[in-house]
Amino acid sequence: MSKLVIEGGTKLKGKVNISGFKNAALPIISAALLSNEECIIENVPLIQDINVLKDILIKIGAEVQIVDDNSLLIDSSQVKTCYLENGLSKKIRGSYYLLGAALGRFKEVLIPLPGGCDIGVRPIDQHIKGFEALGAEVIIDHGMVHAKAKELIGSKIYLDVVSVGATINIMLAAVYAKGRTIIENAAKEPHIVDTANFLNTMGANIKGAGTDIIRIDGVDKLKGCTYSVIPDQIEAGTYMIAAAATKGDIIIDNIIPKHLEPVTAKLKEMGMGIEEYGDSLRVFYQNKLIPANIKTLPYPGFPTDLQQPMTVLLSTITGKSQVIESIWENRFRYVDELVNMGANIEVKGREADIQGVEKLEGTIVKVTDLRAGAALIVAGLIADGLTELEDIYHIDRGYEYIENKFMNLGAKIKRVKN
Ligand code: EPZ
Repeated sequence: MSKLVIEGGTKLKGKVNISGFKNAALPIISAALLSNEECIIENVPLIQDINVLKDILIKIGAEVQIVDDNSLLIDSSQVKTCYLENGLSKKIRGSYYLLGAALGRFKEVLIPLPGGCDIGVRPIDQHIKGFEALGAEVIIDHGMVHAKAKELIGSKIYLDVVSVGATINIMLAAVYAKGRTIIENAAKEPHIVDTANFLNTMGANIKGAGTDIIRIDGVDKLKGCTYSVIPDQIEAGTYMIAAAATKGDIIIDNIIPKHLEPVTAKLKEMGMGIEEYGDSLRVFYQNKLIPANIKTLPYPGFPTDLQQPMTVLLSTITGKSQVIESIWENRFRYVDELVNMGANIEVKGREADIQGVEKLEGTIVKVTDLRAGAALIVAGLIADGLTELEDIYHIDRGYEYIENKFMNLGAKIKRVKN
Protein backbone atom coordinates (compact mmCIF):
# COMPACT_ATOMS: atom_id res chain seq x y z
CA MET A 1 0.00 0.00 0.00
CA SER A 2 1.44 3.37 -1.00
CA LYS A 3 0.44 6.88 -0.05
CA LEU A 4 1.01 10.29 -1.59
CA VAL A 5 2.68 12.91 0.57
CA ILE A 6 2.26 16.52 -0.52
CA GLU A 7 3.90 19.64 0.88
CA GLY A 8 1.56 22.48 -0.04
CA GLY A 9 2.28 26.02 -1.05
CA THR A 10 3.92 25.82 -4.49
CA LYS A 11 2.45 27.71 -7.44
CA LEU A 12 2.31 25.33 -10.42
CA LYS A 13 4.46 26.40 -13.37
CA GLY A 14 5.47 24.70 -16.62
CA LYS A 15 3.87 22.36 -19.13
CA VAL A 16 1.84 19.18 -18.69
CA ASN A 17 1.14 16.70 -21.46
CA ILE A 18 -2.34 15.20 -21.30
CA SER A 19 -2.82 11.42 -21.72
CA GLY A 20 -5.45 9.56 -23.72
CA PHE A 21 -8.97 9.55 -22.26
CA LYS A 22 -9.76 6.60 -20.00
CA ASN A 23 -13.49 6.86 -20.62
CA ALA A 24 -12.97 6.73 -24.40
CA ALA A 25 -10.24 4.06 -24.32
CA LEU A 26 -12.44 1.64 -22.32
CA PRO A 27 -15.26 1.43 -24.93
CA ILE A 28 -12.83 1.57 -27.86
CA ILE A 29 -10.76 -1.35 -26.51
CA SER A 30 -14.01 -3.28 -25.90
CA ALA A 31 -15.17 -2.42 -29.43
CA ALA A 32 -12.05 -4.12 -30.85
CA LEU A 33 -13.85 -7.34 -29.89
CA LEU A 34 -16.29 -6.67 -32.74
CA SER A 35 -13.69 -7.49 -35.40
CA ASN A 36 -11.70 -10.65 -35.95
CA GLU A 37 -8.90 -8.59 -37.47
CA GLU A 38 -6.10 -6.80 -35.62
CA CYS A 39 -6.73 -3.34 -34.20
CA ILE A 40 -4.00 -1.00 -33.02
CA ILE A 41 -5.25 1.56 -30.52
CA GLU A 42 -2.91 4.46 -29.87
CA ASN A 43 -2.80 7.09 -27.11
CA VAL A 44 -4.12 4.63 -24.52
CA PRO A 45 -3.39 5.75 -20.93
CA LEU A 46 -1.48 3.05 -19.02
CA ILE A 47 -3.63 3.08 -15.90
CA GLN A 48 -5.19 0.40 -13.72
CA ASP A 49 -8.65 0.38 -15.36
CA ILE A 50 -7.04 -0.27 -18.75
CA ASN A 51 -4.84 -3.03 -17.28
CA VAL A 52 -7.93 -4.74 -15.89
CA LEU A 53 -9.78 -4.54 -19.22
CA LYS A 54 -6.68 -5.84 -21.01
CA ASP A 55 -6.52 -8.82 -18.61
CA ILE A 56 -10.23 -9.54 -19.16
CA LEU A 57 -9.77 -9.62 -22.93
CA ILE A 58 -6.79 -11.96 -22.55
CA LYS A 59 -8.89 -14.18 -20.27
CA ILE A 60 -11.56 -14.63 -22.91
CA GLY A 61 -8.94 -15.53 -25.54
CA ALA A 62 -7.84 -12.27 -27.18
CA GLU A 63 -4.22 -11.44 -27.84
CA VAL A 64 -3.42 -8.04 -26.34
CA GLN A 65 0.05 -6.53 -26.43
CA ILE A 66 1.44 -3.16 -25.48
CA VAL A 67 3.33 -1.96 -28.55
CA ASP A 68 5.23 1.32 -28.33
CA ASP A 69 4.59 3.41 -25.25
CA ASN A 70 0.85 3.91 -25.28
CA SER A 71 -0.46 1.65 -28.05
CA LEU A 72 -2.33 -1.61 -27.67
CA LEU A 73 -2.51 -4.27 -30.35
CA ILE A 74 -5.68 -6.32 -29.99
CA ASP A 75 -6.37 -9.47 -31.95
CA SER A 76 -9.65 -11.06 -30.93
CA SER A 77 -9.90 -13.52 -33.84
CA GLN A 78 -9.61 -16.47 -31.43
CA VAL A 79 -12.33 -15.27 -29.04
CA LYS A 80 -15.43 -17.44 -29.42
CA THR A 81 -17.54 -16.47 -26.41
CA CYS A 82 -17.61 -13.95 -23.59
CA TYR A 83 -18.48 -15.71 -20.34
CA LEU A 84 -16.84 -14.20 -17.28
CA GLU A 85 -16.95 -15.14 -13.62
CA ASN A 86 -17.03 -12.70 -10.76
CA GLY A 87 -13.59 -11.21 -10.29
CA LEU A 88 -11.75 -8.99 -12.71
CA SER A 89 -14.78 -7.36 -14.32
CA LYS A 90 -16.14 -6.33 -10.89
CA LYS A 91 -13.06 -4.11 -10.45
CA ILE A 92 -14.06 -1.55 -13.07
CA ARG A 93 -17.14 0.11 -14.49
CA GLY A 94 -15.92 -0.06 -18.08
CA SER A 95 -16.37 -3.86 -18.20
CA TYR A 96 -20.06 -3.16 -18.97
CA TYR A 97 -18.98 -2.33 -22.55
CA LEU A 98 -18.28 -6.04 -23.05
CA LEU A 99 -22.05 -6.53 -22.83
CA GLY A 100 -22.73 -4.51 -25.99
CA ALA A 101 -19.61 -5.62 -27.86
CA ALA A 102 -19.98 -9.36 -27.14
CA LEU A 103 -23.74 -9.33 -27.70
CA GLY A 104 -23.08 -7.64 -31.06
CA ARG A 105 -20.45 -10.16 -32.15
CA PHE A 106 -21.53 -13.47 -30.53
CA LYS A 107 -25.23 -12.73 -29.87
CA GLU A 108 -24.67 -13.91 -26.31
CA VAL A 109 -22.76 -12.68 -23.27
CA LEU A 110 -22.63 -13.58 -19.59
CA ILE A 111 -20.74 -11.25 -17.27
CA PRO A 112 -21.06 -9.95 -13.70
CA LEU A 113 -22.67 -6.57 -13.05
CA PRO A 114 -19.88 -3.98 -13.33
CA GLY A 115 -18.00 -2.40 -10.41
CA GLY A 116 -16.43 1.06 -10.40
CA CYS A 117 -16.46 4.08 -8.12
CA ASP A 118 -18.98 4.12 -5.28
CA ILE A 119 -20.67 7.42 -6.16
CA GLY A 120 -24.32 6.40 -5.99
CA VAL A 121 -26.72 3.81 -7.36
CA ARG A 122 -25.48 2.95 -10.84
CA PRO A 123 -28.34 1.16 -12.62
CA ILE A 124 -27.98 -0.30 -16.14
CA ASP A 125 -31.70 -0.41 -16.93
CA GLN A 126 -31.25 1.82 -20.01
CA HIS A 127 -28.55 -0.48 -21.41
CA ILE A 128 -30.92 -3.41 -20.95
CA LYS A 129 -33.85 -1.51 -22.46
CA GLY A 130 -31.69 -0.93 -25.54
CA PHE A 131 -30.54 -4.57 -25.85
CA GLU A 132 -34.14 -5.78 -25.46
CA ALA A 133 -35.36 -3.35 -28.12
CA LEU A 134 -32.79 -4.92 -30.47
CA GLY A 135 -34.32 -8.35 -29.76
CA ALA A 136 -32.15 -9.71 -26.94
CA GLU A 137 -33.42 -11.46 -23.86
CA VAL A 138 -31.63 -10.12 -20.78
CA ILE A 139 -31.69 -11.81 -17.39
CA ILE A 140 -29.96 -10.55 -14.25
CA ASP A 141 -29.50 -13.27 -11.66
CA HIS A 142 -27.17 -13.47 -8.65
CA GLY A 143 -25.24 -10.43 -9.85
CA MET A 144 -24.68 -11.86 -13.35
CA VAL A 145 -26.03 -10.32 -16.56
CA HIS A 146 -26.95 -12.79 -19.28
CA ALA A 147 -27.97 -11.35 -22.65
CA LYS A 148 -28.84 -13.55 -25.60
CA ALA A 149 -30.45 -13.07 -29.02
CA LYS A 150 -31.17 -15.25 -32.06
CA GLU A 151 -30.53 -12.18 -34.14
CA LEU A 152 -30.39 -8.45 -33.45
CA ILE A 153 -32.77 -6.23 -35.39
CA GLY A 154 -32.50 -2.44 -35.62
CA SER A 155 -35.01 -0.50 -33.57
CA LYS A 156 -35.88 2.96 -32.25
CA ILE A 157 -34.76 3.47 -28.64
CA TYR A 158 -35.57 6.51 -26.53
CA LEU A 159 -33.32 6.77 -23.47
CA ASP A 160 -35.26 7.84 -20.38
CA VAL A 161 -32.07 9.36 -18.91
CA VAL A 162 -29.09 10.73 -20.79
CA SER A 163 -26.56 7.96 -20.21
CA VAL A 164 -23.02 7.77 -21.57
CA GLY A 165 -22.73 4.04 -20.90
CA ALA A 166 -26.12 3.11 -22.36
CA THR A 167 -25.58 5.22 -25.50
CA ILE A 168 -22.22 3.56 -26.20
CA ASN A 169 -23.39 0.06 -25.29
CA ILE A 170 -26.38 0.28 -27.63
CA MET A 171 -24.11 1.53 -30.44
CA LEU A 172 -21.79 -1.43 -29.85
CA ALA A 173 -24.63 -3.95 -29.96
CA ALA A 174 -26.35 -2.31 -32.94
CA VAL A 175 -23.43 -2.19 -35.41
CA TYR A 176 -24.21 -5.76 -36.53
CA ALA A 177 -28.02 -5.53 -36.11
CA LYS A 178 -30.13 -5.89 -39.24
CA GLY A 179 -31.45 -2.56 -40.49
CA ARG A 180 -31.44 0.81 -38.76
CA THR A 181 -31.18 1.58 -35.04
CA ILE A 182 -32.02 5.05 -33.81
CA ILE A 183 -31.00 6.19 -30.33
CA GLU A 184 -32.99 9.21 -29.18
CA ASN A 185 -32.00 11.37 -26.20
CA ALA A 186 -28.47 10.03 -26.63
CA ALA A 187 -25.53 11.34 -24.58
CA LYS A 188 -23.26 13.77 -26.47
CA GLU A 189 -19.94 13.43 -24.63
CA PRO A 190 -16.73 13.53 -26.71
CA HIS A 191 -16.09 9.85 -25.95
CA ILE A 192 -19.41 8.93 -27.64
CA VAL A 193 -18.09 10.62 -30.79
CA ASP A 194 -14.67 8.98 -30.38
CA THR A 195 -16.16 5.50 -30.05
CA ALA A 196 -18.42 6.10 -33.09
CA ASN A 197 -15.39 7.34 -35.07
CA PHE A 198 -13.47 4.19 -34.14
CA LEU A 199 -16.38 1.96 -35.17
CA ASN A 200 -16.80 3.88 -38.45
CA THR A 201 -13.07 3.47 -39.13
CA MET A 202 -13.65 -0.28 -38.71
CA GLY A 203 -16.45 -0.07 -41.30
CA ALA A 204 -19.56 0.66 -39.24
CA ASN A 205 -22.21 3.09 -40.44
CA ILE A 206 -22.97 5.45 -37.55
CA LYS A 207 -24.22 9.00 -38.02
CA GLY A 208 -25.15 11.72 -35.54
CA ALA A 209 -22.78 10.87 -32.67
CA GLY A 210 -22.34 14.08 -30.67
CA THR A 211 -26.00 15.03 -31.15
CA ASP A 212 -28.96 13.61 -29.27
CA ILE A 213 -30.09 11.39 -32.16
CA ILE A 214 -27.72 8.67 -33.35
CA ARG A 215 -28.49 6.47 -36.37
CA ILE A 216 -26.73 3.15 -36.82
CA ASP A 217 -27.18 1.17 -40.03
CA GLY A 218 -26.13 -2.43 -39.43
CA VAL A 219 -23.20 -3.87 -41.43
CA ASP A 220 -22.00 -7.46 -41.96
CA LYS A 221 -18.34 -7.09 -41.13
CA LEU A 222 -15.99 -4.80 -39.25
CA LYS A 223 -12.33 -4.81 -40.21
CA GLY A 224 -9.21 -4.08 -38.16
CA CYS A 225 -7.77 -0.57 -38.06
CA THR A 226 -5.36 1.81 -36.35
CA TYR A 227 -6.95 4.53 -34.26
CA SER A 228 -5.80 7.14 -31.73
CA VAL A 229 -7.88 7.86 -28.59
CA ILE A 230 -8.80 11.51 -27.84
CA PRO A 231 -7.04 13.36 -25.02
CA ASP A 232 -8.51 13.13 -21.52
CA GLN A 233 -10.52 16.28 -20.91
CA ILE A 234 -11.10 15.31 -17.28
CA GLU A 235 -7.38 14.95 -16.63
CA ALA A 236 -6.82 18.29 -18.43
CA GLY A 237 -9.57 19.94 -16.38
CA THR A 238 -7.98 18.62 -13.18
CA TYR A 239 -4.68 20.37 -14.02
CA MET A 240 -6.53 23.56 -15.02
CA ILE A 241 -8.28 23.64 -11.66
CA ALA A 242 -5.02 22.84 -9.85
CA ALA A 243 -3.37 25.80 -11.64
CA ALA A 244 -6.19 28.07 -10.46
CA ALA A 245 -6.05 26.76 -6.88
CA THR A 246 -2.26 27.22 -6.60
CA LYS A 247 -2.34 30.63 -8.35
CA GLY A 248 -0.09 29.13 -11.00
CA ASP A 249 0.66 29.59 -14.69
CA ILE A 250 0.77 26.42 -16.78
CA ILE A 251 0.42 25.13 -20.33
CA ILE A 252 -1.91 22.15 -20.80
CA ASP A 253 -0.69 20.41 -23.92
CA ASN A 254 -2.13 17.76 -26.28
CA ILE A 255 -5.80 18.57 -25.75
CA ILE A 256 -8.90 19.46 -27.74
CA PRO A 257 -9.80 22.88 -26.22
CA LYS A 258 -13.43 22.60 -27.39
CA HIS A 259 -13.96 19.62 -25.05
CA LEU A 260 -12.93 21.86 -22.15
CA GLU A 261 -15.28 24.76 -22.87
CA PRO A 262 -17.53 24.25 -19.81
CA VAL A 263 -14.47 24.34 -17.54
CA THR A 264 -12.76 27.20 -19.40
CA ALA A 265 -15.92 29.31 -19.24
CA LYS A 266 -16.31 28.79 -15.49
CA LEU A 267 -12.65 29.47 -14.65
CA LYS A 268 -12.71 32.64 -16.77
CA GLU A 269 -15.89 33.76 -15.00
CA MET A 270 -14.00 33.32 -11.71
CA GLY A 271 -11.11 35.49 -12.95
CA MET A 272 -8.52 33.06 -14.34
CA GLY A 273 -6.64 33.96 -17.50
CA ILE A 274 -6.98 31.35 -20.26
CA GLU A 275 -5.35 31.55 -23.69
CA GLU A 276 -6.00 28.99 -26.42
CA TYR A 277 -3.30 27.82 -28.86
CA GLY A 278 -4.49 25.06 -31.25
CA ASP A 279 -4.04 21.93 -29.16
CA SER A 280 -3.01 23.58 -25.90
CA LEU A 281 -4.23 26.07 -23.30
CA ARG A 282 -2.32 28.46 -21.07
CA VAL A 283 -4.08 28.77 -17.72
CA PHE A 284 -2.77 31.56 -15.52
CA TYR A 285 -3.70 33.37 -12.32
CA GLN A 286 -4.20 37.12 -12.65
CA ASN A 287 -6.19 38.59 -9.77
CA LYS A 288 -8.07 37.35 -6.71
CA LEU A 289 -10.68 34.79 -7.85
CA ILE A 290 -14.37 35.27 -7.16
CA PRO A 291 -16.87 32.64 -5.93
CA ALA A 292 -19.07 30.73 -8.38
CA ASN A 293 -22.08 28.45 -8.60
CA ILE A 294 -21.73 25.13 -10.40
CA LYS A 295 -24.32 22.59 -11.49
CA THR A 296 -23.06 19.35 -13.00
CA LEU A 297 -24.86 18.31 -16.19
CA PRO A 298 -24.37 15.96 -19.14
CA TYR A 299 -22.02 17.35 -21.84
CA PRO A 300 -21.76 20.19 -22.81
CA GLY A 301 -22.64 21.11 -19.22
CA PHE A 302 -20.10 21.23 -16.40
CA PRO A 303 -18.77 17.65 -15.99
CA THR A 304 -19.58 15.72 -12.82
CA ASP A 305 -16.08 14.21 -13.01
CA LEU A 306 -14.60 17.65 -12.22
CA GLN A 307 -17.08 18.55 -9.50
CA GLN A 308 -14.75 17.41 -6.70
CA PRO A 309 -11.57 19.34 -7.69
CA MET A 310 -13.76 22.38 -8.42
CA THR A 311 -15.25 22.22 -4.92
CA VAL A 312 -11.73 22.25 -3.47
CA LEU A 313 -10.87 25.35 -5.51
CA LEU A 314 -14.07 27.12 -4.38
CA SER A 315 -13.38 26.19 -0.74
CA THR A 316 -10.58 28.77 -0.48
CA ILE A 317 -12.19 31.60 -2.46
CA THR A 318 -13.57 34.36 -0.22
CA GLY A 319 -17.38 34.46 -0.32
CA LYS A 320 -20.20 31.97 -0.87
CA SER A 321 -20.26 29.36 -3.64
CA GLN A 322 -22.70 26.58 -4.32
CA VAL A 323 -22.20 23.26 -6.09
CA ILE A 324 -25.14 21.12 -7.22
CA GLU A 325 -24.40 17.54 -8.25
CA SER A 326 -27.18 16.46 -10.58
CA ILE A 327 -25.68 13.23 -11.99
CA TRP A 328 -24.58 11.12 -8.98
CA GLU A 329 -26.38 11.19 -5.64
CA ASN A 330 -23.35 10.22 -3.55
CA ARG A 331 -20.46 12.26 -4.90
CA PHE A 332 -19.74 14.48 -1.91
CA ARG A 333 -18.20 11.85 0.37
CA TYR A 334 -14.75 13.48 0.13
CA VAL A 335 -16.15 16.69 1.69
CA ASP A 336 -15.68 15.20 5.21
CA GLU A 337 -11.94 15.02 4.48
CA LEU A 338 -11.92 18.60 3.19
CA VAL A 339 -13.72 19.77 6.32
CA ASN A 340 -11.00 18.00 8.36
CA MET A 341 -8.54 20.16 6.44
CA GLY A 342 -10.40 23.30 7.53
CA ALA A 343 -12.91 23.85 4.71
CA ASN A 344 -16.32 25.30 5.55
CA ILE A 345 -18.74 23.24 3.45
CA GLU A 346 -22.24 22.08 4.30
CA VAL A 347 -23.67 19.27 2.21
CA LYS A 348 -27.45 18.88 1.96
CA GLY A 349 -28.27 15.99 -0.33
CA ARG A 350 -27.02 16.89 -3.78
CA GLU A 351 -26.06 20.43 -2.82
CA ALA A 352 -22.86 21.75 -1.23
CA ASP A 353 -22.87 25.25 0.26
CA ILE A 354 -19.36 26.58 0.51
CA GLN A 355 -18.11 29.51 2.58
CA GLY A 356 -14.58 30.21 1.37
CA VAL A 357 -11.86 29.97 4.06
CA GLU A 358 -8.44 31.63 4.00
CA LYS A 359 -6.48 28.40 4.00
CA LEU A 360 -6.61 24.62 4.33
CA GLU A 361 -4.37 22.69 6.75
CA GLY A 362 -2.53 19.55 5.75
CA THR A 363 -3.53 16.31 7.49
CA ILE A 364 -4.03 12.58 6.75
CA VAL A 365 -6.95 12.01 4.36
CA LYS A 366 -8.53 8.91 2.82
CA VAL A 367 -9.37 8.80 -0.89
CA THR A 368 -12.92 7.51 -1.41
CA ASP A 369 -13.06 7.35 -5.23
CA LEU A 370 -11.08 8.32 -8.32
CA ARG A 371 -12.03 11.98 -8.74
CA ALA A 372 -12.15 12.52 -4.97
CA GLY A 373 -8.49 11.48 -5.09
CA ALA A 374 -7.69 14.15 -7.68
CA ALA A 375 -9.56 16.69 -5.57
CA LEU A 376 -7.62 15.81 -2.42
CA ILE A 377 -4.34 16.20 -4.33
CA VAL A 378 -5.44 19.74 -5.27
CA ALA A 379 -6.34 20.31 -1.60
CA GLY A 380 -2.87 19.09 -0.55
CA LEU A 381 -1.19 21.41 -3.06
CA ILE A 382 -2.75 24.48 -1.46
CA ALA A 383 -2.81 23.39 2.19
CA ASP A 384 -0.36 24.56 4.81
CA GLY A 385 2.08 21.81 5.78
CA LEU A 386 1.95 18.15 4.83
CA THR A 387 -1.06 16.27 3.46
CA GLU A 388 -0.94 12.48 3.29
CA LEU A 389 -3.36 10.70 0.95
CA GLU A 390 -4.22 7.10 1.77
CA ASP A 391 -6.04 4.55 -0.43
CA ILE A 392 -4.51 6.06 -3.57
CA TYR A 393 -5.26 2.92 -5.61
CA HIS A 394 -8.46 4.79 -6.58
CA ILE A 395 -6.31 7.50 -8.24
CA ASP A 396 -4.15 4.94 -10.07
CA ARG A 397 -7.28 3.59 -11.74
CA GLY A 398 -7.63 6.74 -13.82
CA TYR A 399 -4.65 9.16 -13.82
CA GLU A 400 -1.46 8.31 -15.68
CA TYR A 401 1.87 9.29 -13.98
CA ILE A 402 -0.01 11.72 -11.74
CA GLU A 403 2.70 12.51 -9.21
CA ASN A 404 5.36 12.82 -11.95
CA LYS A 405 3.18 15.24 -13.89
CA PHE A 406 2.57 17.37 -10.80
CA MET A 407 6.28 17.17 -9.85
CA ASN A 408 7.21 18.45 -13.31
CA LEU A 409 4.94 21.41 -12.63
CA GLY A 410 6.93 22.14 -9.48
CA ALA A 411 4.65 20.49 -6.92
CA LYS A 412 6.24 18.88 -3.87
CA ILE A 413 4.57 15.48 -4.06
CA LYS A 414 5.98 12.00 -3.60
CA ARG A 415 4.74 8.44 -3.45
CA VAL A 416 5.78 6.66 -0.29
CA LYS A 417 5.46 2.93 0.43
CA ASN A 418 3.73 2.32 3.77
C1 EPZ B 1 -19.71 7.41 -17.23
O1 EPZ B 1 -20.38 6.60 -16.27
C2 EPZ B 1 -18.31 7.62 -16.70
N1 EPZ B 1 -17.68 6.31 -16.53
C3 EPZ B 1 -18.34 8.37 -15.37
O2 EPZ B 1 -17.01 8.68 -15.02
C4 EPZ B 1 -19.10 9.70 -15.54
O3 EPZ B 1 -19.25 10.30 -14.28
C5 EPZ B 1 -20.48 9.44 -16.15
O4 EPZ B 1 -20.35 8.68 -17.39
C6 EPZ B 1 -21.22 10.73 -16.47
O5 EPZ B 1 -20.45 11.53 -17.33
C7 EPZ B 1 -17.12 5.70 -17.57
O6 EPZ B 1 -17.11 6.20 -18.68
C8 EPZ B 1 -16.48 4.38 -17.32
P1 EPZ B 1 -24.15 7.42 -17.13
P2 EPZ B 1 -21.78 5.90 -16.64
O7 EPZ B 1 -24.73 6.15 -17.62
O8 EPZ B 1 -21.77 5.49 -18.05
C9 EPZ B 1 -28.28 7.24 -14.64
C10 EPZ B 1 -15.07 8.65 -13.70
O9 EPZ B 1 -14.78 9.22 -12.63
N2 EPZ B 1 -28.49 5.96 -15.34
O10 EPZ B 1 -23.95 8.54 -18.06
O11 EPZ B 1 -21.99 4.84 -15.61
C11 EPZ B 1 -27.14 7.15 -13.62
O12 EPZ B 1 -27.58 6.64 -12.39
C12 EPZ B 1 -16.44 8.02 -13.86
O13 EPZ B 1 -14.30 8.55 -14.66
C13 EPZ B 1 -29.68 5.29 -15.19
O14 EPZ B 1 -30.58 5.71 -14.46
O15 EPZ B 1 -22.75 7.12 -16.40
C14 EPZ B 1 -26.66 8.59 -13.57
O16 EPZ B 1 -27.46 9.30 -12.68
C15 EPZ B 1 -17.25 8.07 -12.62
N3 EPZ B 1 -29.87 4.12 -15.88
C16 EPZ B 1 -26.91 9.11 -14.99
O17 EPZ B 1 -27.85 8.21 -15.56
C17 EPZ B 1 -28.91 3.60 -16.69
O18 EPZ B 1 -29.14 2.53 -17.29
C18 EPZ B 1 -25.68 9.17 -15.89
O19 EPZ B 1 -25.03 7.90 -15.91
C19 EPZ B 1 -27.70 4.30 -16.85
C20 EPZ B 1 -27.51 5.48 -16.16
